[in-house]
Amino acid sequence: MADAVMRCLHTSKIPHLGVSLLAKRAGRPSNLPGRQLFVHCTCQIRKRALTTAITPSSLHHSKHSSRTYASTAPTLPRPPPRASRVPPPPPPIGIAARQPKTSNSNSNNGLPRTRTPDRASSGRSFQIYFWGVSLFGFVLSAYLSSLYVTYKREVRESAMLDLAPNADVSSRWLDLSRNFDDEVDMSEKLMSLRAKRRNLCQQAQGNVLEVSAGTGRNMDLYNLDPINTPRNRRIKSLVFNDQSEIMVYQAQKRFESLQEETDAIAKFRGPVRFIVGDAGDKRIINRPEGGFDTIIQTMGLCSMSSPVGFLRRLGELCRQPGERSTGLDVNLVRADSQEKRNDSGASAEAHETAAGDELDSDKGGKILLLEHGRSNVGFINKYLDNIAKRHADRYGCWWNKDIEQIVLDSGLVVESKKRYHFGTTYEYVLRPRGGLEKDASERKPS
Ligand SMILES: C[S@@+](CC[C@H](N)C(=O)[O-])C[C@H]1O[C@@H](n2cnc3c(N)ncnc32)[C@H](O)[C@@H]1O
Repeated sequence: MADAVMRCLHTSKIPHLGVSLLAKRAGRPSNLPGRQLFVHCTCQIRKRALTTAITPSSLHHSKHSSRTYASTAPTLPRPPPRASRVPPPPPPIGIAARQPKTSNSNSNNGLPRTRTPDRASSGRSFQIYFWGVSLFGFVLSAYLSSLYVTYKREVRESAMLDLAPNADVSSRWLDLSRNFDDEVDMSEKLMSLRAKRRNLCQQAQGNVLEVSAGTGRNMDLYNLDPINTPRNRRIKSLVFNDQSEIMVYQAQKRFESLQEETDAIAKFRGPVRFIVGDAGDKRIINRPEGGFDTIIQTMGLCSMSSPVGFLRRLGELCRQPGERSTGLDVNLVRADSQEKRNDSGASAEAHETAAGDELDSDKGGKILLLEHGRSNVGFINKYLDNIAKRHADRYGCWWNKDIEQIVLDSGLVVESKKRYHFGTTYEYVLRPRGGLEKDASERKPS
C-alpha cells in the first residue's frame, strides 16, 4: 500500500508532496535550504517520471493522483509556457500554411530539440557547395584574367609587326624546330575535327590528289582497303603534295609506318606519290589523263598568299564535266550500280543510285575542302583581326580569311557548303565549271 502511494506521488504532477517524501525516504541532503531542496527533489521526480516504465496500473494511478491533488496545484510556481514568453511574429499573409511548428506543438514535450543528423549533413553539404562554387569562381576568373592579359599583349605585339595583310608567310612551314602535330592536336580534339576530316576522306574515289597535305593527318582516313570498299568507291591512285619539304618528308614517313601497322592500308596496291612544291604553280603537279577524280585540301587556304589562283588551279587539275575518268571505270561503276539495284532493297538502291547519278549527270570530279577562316559572329572576327598578324607570323596562317569570298572568286561550282564553330570552320564540295577540257587535253600527262 505504502509502495503504491509512493509510486503515485512519484509520478504525480504535484512535486511538493514528492519533495518531502523523497527527502525523508532517501535521506537526501537535509541540510539544503528549503528552495534548493525543492529544486533538487523536483529534478529527481522528473527524472524518475521519465524513466519509469509506463504500465496500465501506473497510468491509472497517475490519473487518479492528478485528479485527487489538482486542487492544490495553484499554490505551486509553474513556469509560464514558452509560447507566452516570446510571442511569435504574426505570420505573413498568404504563407500561414508553411509556418514551422512551434515548440509547444512538437512531440518533444517542451524538451530542447537536438540537431538531427539530417540537418547536420545538409549544413555540411551547403558548406562544401559554397566553398566549391567559390573556388571554381576564383579559378575561372583567374584564368579569364590571364587570357585577357595575354590577349592584350598579343594585340600590342600584332600592331607593332611589320607584316602586310595576307603577306606570304609560307616560310614558317620550313621551320625544322616546329612540331605541327603537337601544336594542333589539342584544338582539333576539342573541335572534333577528325570526324569532319573522316567525312571528307570517305568521299574520295578514283585518282586522288591531296594538296597542302602537311604531315599527312588524313592518310589513315581514306578507304584504301580494296576488298572492303565497294568498287565504285575505290581509290586507284594517291598523290600527296606540300610546299614544305619537311612536311612532305614527315608525311612519307607516316604513310610507311601506316602501311606496316594497318592491314587496310597495307592492302593498298595503287601508286602513291609525294610531290614537294607550290600546288598553285602549273609546273609542279601534272594533270593525269582524265584529271583527278577527287582533290582534297584541309586547312590549307589560310597559309596561301593567293588562294583564289590556287583554287582555280585545283579546278584545272580536276576531272572536267563530261571528261572520261581513268581512275574510275565508269562502265564498272554503272554495272555495279545496276546489279545492286536489281538485288537489293530500297535503301541500298537509293545509295547506289546516287553514285550512278553522279556519273550520269557528268558533273566532273570533286574538290573537297575543310578550311578555317572568318566567323559569322562580329566579336569573334574582331578578335581574329586584332591578333591576325601575330598569329600569321608565328604559325604561318592567316586565320581571318574570308573563305566564302575566296571560293566565290575562284569561279568553282559550289555543290554544298556547311559551316561550324561560329562559322569559322568551312566544309565545301566544289565542282569544276568546265570548259577546260580542251586546255587540259593539250597538256601532257605526268
Ligand atoms: C595548316 S597546314 C595544314 C596541313 C594539313 N593539310 C592538315 O590538315 O593538317 C598548311 C599546309 O599548307 C602548306 N602549303 C601552303 N601553301 C601551299 C602551296 N601553295 N602549295 C602546297 N602546300 C602549301 C604548308 O606547307 C602547310 O603544310
